[in-house]
Amino acid sequence: MKTILLLLSSLFAVSAAGQAPPEKIVGGPFVVNVTGRNATIVWLVQSGEASVQPASGGAARVSPSVRVEKTTLTGLTPNTRYDYNVAAGDQAGKGSFKTPPGAGGYDFVVYGDNRTRHDVHRRVIATLLRHGIPDFVVQTGDLVSDGFDSSLWPLFFDIERDLLRQTAFFPALGNHERNTLLFREYFRKEKPYYSFDWGNAHFAVINSDIANVSAQESERDAFWAEQTRWLEEDLRAHQKADFRFVAAHHPPMTAVARRQGDNPHMTALMPMFEKYRVSAGLFGHDHNYQHYLKNGITYIVTGGGGAPLYDVDKPAEGITKRVMSVENFVSVHVEGKTAHVQTVSIDGTVIDDFEIHAPAPLPE
Ligand SMILES: [Fe+2]
Repeated sequence: MKTILLLLSSLFAVSAAGQAPPEKIVGGPFVVNVTGRNATIVWLVQSGEASVQPASGGAARVSPSVRVEKTTLTGLTPNTRYDYNVAAGDQAGKGSFKTPPGAGGYDFVVYGDNRTRHDVHRRVIATLLRHGIPDFVVQTGDLVSDGFDSSLWPLFFDIERDLLRQTAFFPALGNHERNTLLFREYFRKEKPYYSFDWGNAHFAVINSDIANVSAQESERDAFWAEQTRWLEEDLRAHQKADFRFVAAHHPPMTAVARRQGDNPHMTALMPMFEKYRVSAGLFGHDHNYQHYLKNGITYIVTGGGGAPLYDVDKPAEGITKRVMSVENFVSVHVEGKTAHVQTVSIDGTVIDDFEIHAPAPLPE
């Protein structure tokens, strides 16, 4: 043990900053797990930092120590906007959110793959804010380029600050999160998959990143079997909702030629989407925009939140409605039995515009 410590100290000089900096909010506030009655407000506080550099010389890097603060509210009223402040007297702690309506219209936004090009991510969020603040956001994964890196989350939350402090946030786990427990800690999830209701819609958010579940194939298979069982039961139990949406990071199909066939586990779920009348699948991972209609199910890939763009060079014949290699987000307005979908590119241009209609209710 002593040898290892000596070796480490010869490789790196690690020093805590001499004078502890004052605590500051470096994430959020944002609101998760919002229902008509409950919500959890989360904010991340930087309480210290480490400056690290090779002992042999070279540039120092600073890595923050971040603490999660959260408070859970119960007894809320549906369809109500709440203002909050997590740091009395400090503008940085202010935010608001709205609880879902029992009936009536609402807006949500879907986007993903914000990692890597922070300036582009910032422009996507600026365009989104100009478009209008949604009631909630579904993020399709790859929030940061390495979920284990403590320095990347504050950067993500800094860019997203003015959006997340005004809405509710429902993220999916991407492969770049690397199955870090920070994801569940920050977003208050007991499992990497979950579902929620908003008005007349039901959303199931699953973890498609089986590669990072375990190094053991048997554990990966067991996880996928468990989650698939859960998803089927979840969809079966919500057949009375007007809309059912499934969100995940990896798409079941893609127009990116070099990535076709990469996600057979997701492709294998498509019959289940049809059986349980899923309105739309919402995905990311491929850094572009893709829209398909296959056997009555809408499939959307929106991975244009900042990561380097991919070509859409081989769209499938017969089912492709629109593909475009551009940064984007998807804005959905639900009113009664109609979901009006508009996809907006980074410069504010509407690049796709269509409706999804709720299926006829099942006979009692
Ligand atoms: Fe990805």
